[in-house]
Amino acid sequence: MKPEITTWQEYQAAYKESIENPSNFWSKIAKTFYWQKEWTNVCSGDFSDVNIRWFDGGILNITENCLDRHLAERGDHLALIWEPNDPTEKMHGVRKYTYRQLYEEVLCCAQMLQKLGVQKGDRVCIYLPMIPEILICMLACARIGAIHSVVFGGFSAASLAERINDSDAHILITADSAFRGNKEIHLKEIADKAIQNAPGIQHCIVYIHTGCAIPWVEGRDLKYQDLIAQTTAECPAVPMEAEAPLFILYTSGSTGKPKGIVHTTAGYMVYVGYTFRNIFQIRDDDIFWCTADVGWITGHSYLVYGPLLNGTTVLMFEGIPTYPDPGRFWQVIQKYKVTIFYTAPTVIRSLLLEGTSYLEDKDLSSLRVLGSVGEPINEEAWQWYYKHVGKERCPIVDTYWQTETGGIVISPIANITPTPPCYATYPLPGIVPAILDSYGKEIALNSLKEPAEGTLCFKQPWPSIARTTFRDHARFKKVYFEEYPGYYLTGDNARYEPTTGMFRITGRMDDVLNVSGHRLGTAEIENAINEHEAVVETAVVGYPHPIKGQGIYAFVICDRPFSSSEDLLKSVQQLVSEKIGPIAKPDYVQVVPGLPKTRSGKIMRRILRKLLEGATPTQIGDTSTLLDPAIVESIFEGLLLKPKAV
Ligand code: PRX
Repeated sequence: MKPEITTWQEYQAAYKESIENPSNFWSKIAKTFYWQKEWTNVCSGDFSDVNIRWFDGGILNITENCLDRHLAERGDHLALIWEPNDPTEKMHGVRKYTYRQLYEEVLCCAQMLQKLGVQKGDRVCIYLPMIPEILICMLACARIGAIHSVVFGGFSAASLAERINDSDAHILITADSAFRGNKEIHLKEIADKAIQNAPGIQHCIVYIHTGCAIPWVEGRDLKYQDLIAQTTAECPAVPMEAEAPLFILYTSGSTGKPKGIVHTTAGYMVYVGYTFRNIFQIRDDDIFWCTADVGWITGHSYLVYGPLLNGTTVLMFEGIPTYPDPGRFWQVIQKYKVTIFYTAPTVIRSLLLEGTSYLEDKDLSSLRVLGSVGEPINEEAWQWYYKHVGKERCPIVDTYWQTETGGIVISPIANITPTPPCYATYPLPGIVPAILDSYGKEIALNSLKEPAEGTLCFKQPWPSIARTTFRDHARFKKVYFEEYPGYYLTGDNARYEPTTGMFRITGRMDDVLNVSGHRLGTAEIENAINEHEAVVETAVVGYPHPIKGQGIYAFVICDRPFSSSEDLLKSVQQLVSEKIGPIAKPDYVQVVPGLPKTRSGKIMRRILRKLLEGATPTQIGDTSTLLDPAIVESIFEGLLLKPKAV
């Protein structure tokens, strides 16, 4: 499908109409998709009632839009190219699927799930590596109206069990193991451990990927390949109401356990399909590569649904950027003549440290558009990406969004709107940003003379905003809509430039960490560390890290001496890996005599963050509200990380 926006004027006109007359605007966009029955009401609900509905009355199945409708004209066009971890292809060859082949695979998989008794509305947990089956299983769920809940393959057994239980899934789909670089991840073993604490699982379907030896529970465990062999490529698309849930994806917040964010069918489809083709200015012959894992929202929206909704060829890569050497990404771009490359700043930062030698011998002339996602991109990384990867020819779209927003909400449109370094720039059609000051009052952006920074919120629902947190609407309302009534609270700070009307995202304002683009809550890491035998209390904060964006630093109070600080660090890291996953391991664990707490017992993480950013105790401002102001000095004395002075 062709982008609707092809000029700056068209962007402005689309934006204006989407705000002044959302029903008109979105019904035109929705008509570019296939519906079994058209909607009767485009949108209802707002951020006060938090009962948001789009395309009510409409009946559709997203897989008919991702697959069936392409068959007539693009059946032989490539839908998916899969590049294995090992570039010599000794273990696995490259796998390629045309739209017709993918359609058939999905239908077989959907029939397999149906035969196992999976019905519309049931949850299916998918814990797979970056192999085609992850995408096939997601679409197979959508085909029969089951709700997929993909859990990132880097999460631990405990995290997987927690997510299975919260979503009440009866089927788990996993693989024997997978390689990422040199490292083998034994997914089936992790899944087995998880199932011990997730008694609702009736069947564990195992895709045999590496052929490694695996434990097996007769009756419960079933081989994916065996089941598929007994199916045919027949499975009618189950009619879905527009607001039927499409998937659950767990994400971390400031407090409590990860939340099961729920996205529904029609609004998500329309917004993700529309933003994909417009932001990247998709053409028929594009090879689009999104490096994100399918286990995160970027993978869901812009590796799976966005490209397939538009009949685009998408590339999925199993491995990591540095294996077998730091030239791998550039080699893959050259090999497949990738035209659009969408990655995260942390990847750029780690590859720029390797110098340009790995790039110089690669032909990157196929590239047309570059994208960035997941965290603020710093100027150095932006310039390197622009100069050495894009050869100063390719615009960089710095796309800002969240698991909750479903699709990109603030971003340039490639070659149409400006792309100044480090700016997410302008809101997309349907998005009305607001910046609130420290009193929670909306800043009047129209009359501003100087740039203003504050809390980024959105004022008006757009089609792909999350609808709820699974089985806990009260929590959804509380987290996103209670503090500033009438607004959706992003949790990010942004700066607005009145001369250009552009937004720059400056980072999280709450206790959410962004480590290598992975979103983690301080509370979940603290809870894990508190289970350590020697630890009585923990405060976790992020500190500036040159590659990861943020690193994790834990301050702990211990009730017994530990043999060495190295041992303490190792055992805490081990514990966090088991409880959450290796991505949440702290880099530093500092034993402290106390934590900076207010008289009411709240830990002032802000103070700890400032110390790690280089402030001395006298530079951190007013500490009079602290129960014991002297504690700051003693924490400062013991810092393990000596930041540069501010
Ligand atoms: O802090 C923002 C940051 O990532 C958070 C959302 O994380 P998650 O739900 O995991 O989704 C990540 C992929 C969409 C946001 O609250 N973030 C995402 N994109 C950007 C960003 N920060 C700055 N610039 C971006 N382009």
